[in-house]
Amino acid sequence: MGELIGDKHVKYILSVEKKKDSFESVVMEHLRLNGAYWGLTTIDLLGKLDTVDSNEVVSWILQCQHESGGFGGNIGHDPHLLYTLSAVQVLALFDKLDVLDINKVTDYIRALQNEDGSFSGDIWGEVDTRFSYCAICCLAILKRLDSINVEKAVSYIVSCKTLDGGFGCTPGAESHAGQIFCCVGALAITGSLHHIDKDLLGWWLCERQVKSGGLNGRPEKLADVCYSWWVLSSLIMIDRVHWIDKEKLVKFILDCQDIENGGISDRPDDAVDIFHTYFGVAGLSLLEYPGLKAIDPAYALPVDVVNRIFFGRCST
Ligand code: FPP
Ligand code: ZN
Repeated sequence: MGELIGDKHVKYILSVEKKKDSFESVVMEHLRLNGAYWGLTTIDLLGKLDTVDSNEVVSWILQCQHESGGFGGNIGHDPHLLYTLSAVQVLALFDKLDVLDINKVTDYIRALQNEDGSFSGDIWGEVDTRFSYCAICCLAILKRLDSINVEKAVSYIVSCKTLDGGFGCTPGAESHAGQIFCCVGALAITGSLHHIDKDLLGWWLCERQVKSGGLNGRPEKLADVCYSWWVLSSLIMIDRVHWIDKEKLVKFILDCQDIENGGISDRPDDAVDIFHTYFGVAGLSLLEYPGLKAIDPAYALPVDVVNRIFFGRCST
């Protein structure tokens, strides 16, 4: 079996950042803040964050902030919870949360909670359990969970539970592993995992592993590296990760690397991108692959960063 070519992945990520005119950069332009989170978290997991100019990143992030307090995907773009979470996560990576006006960000998020406890992603109102996760994760990092109605937020998420023990994007929607990560993560952060039937959900999640060793996101779908994260993080949070074959999954992820130029694709021999590079490396971190920092399955940040947020500066 091949091994993780970490240095090449770092090079690949930094090269995407520089190739501003390339096709991938053009496509990614509107979600650059998400791209920054994927790329920089990968670099941190690989132990190379000190090669990045943090001042440059922090000043760009602050320029993405809208007067409402939320963040857009790039300078001048409309704010959305998806980008607001990425902004807060990247600032946490660099230990720069103190540049934020926390009241402003909190006010933006609080105003997006609806009467039934759900969250809209932005002022246009689309509701999805992804946005519940973004709001809850963000506020927890900022230590402002008390500014929303957590009880209602939790009962909305529970109302999105499906008969197979999973979760969908709205009440009555089918289970989807990405949505399951969001709901299980939000329940973990709020100390509400008792709402989950762990055996039932664990069974559905471990059935996502297919012959190649990779994981899919729903029955009958192809395996995809990003589901290594969505499925595995959920299995860890409900203590059922021993129900999948870890070795086969490691091999599947390593087989998706571009050995020459770095980067990881969704499945072997496809084109690489930053999104799958992050979820491949994050998945390997959850699988305790040697040489990688550990990642927290609920906050999707390196464990040392989460410890620094909640237990202070010393990282022993
Ligand atoms: C599948 O995406 C993934 C989801 C629906 C979950 C997305 C979660 C967030 C945006 C929350 C923030 C995440 C982190 C890690 C901090 P897809 O559109 O690729 O699904 P498909 O495979 O069905 O196309
Ligand atoms: Zn994918």
